[in-house]
Amino acid sequence: MKPITFLVAITTVAVVLSTARATSSPGTWQPIKNPNDFRIRMVAEYAVFMHNFKTEFKHPLRLVDVDSGSIHQFKNGVIYTLIVSAAQADNLSSKGSLYQTAVRVSLDRTAGGLIYFMPVM
Ligand SMILES: *[C@@H]1O[C@H](CO)[C@@H](O)[C@H](O)[C@H]1NC(C)=O
Repeated sequence: MKPITFLVAITTVAVVLSTARATSSPGTWQPIKNPNDFRIRMVAEYAVFMHNFKTEFKHPLRLVDVDSGSIHQFKNGVIYTLIVSAAQADNLSSKGSLYQTAVRVSLDRTAGGLIYFMPVM
């Protein structure tokens, strides 16, 4: 992994963890009002990065934008469920297609990460 990529990943996780503190009561979920808020975009960037990492960068994607999403609050953290638009990273004429992803962030930092990343059928 290139150092800069690693730095981006670490920074992303730090930002995601810090957003998990600004939370409401446990057991609730709420729609994300501004899906292209910087912090939500960072969660989406993390999801795309982890998807690329897990697929060994064979057909890497780049985030285009965040379409919609919700935040589910649970006792020890939050789960972000997002609909994102992502395109082929190495093809500038590739337009985005839709993917659904979920990212878990635990407050105690013992668990978390990408739950799934898959095309919207
Ligand atoms: C790049 O994206 C365009 C638009 O989707 C597509 O027509 C073309 O085949 C792609 N090129 C490659 C090399 O995948």
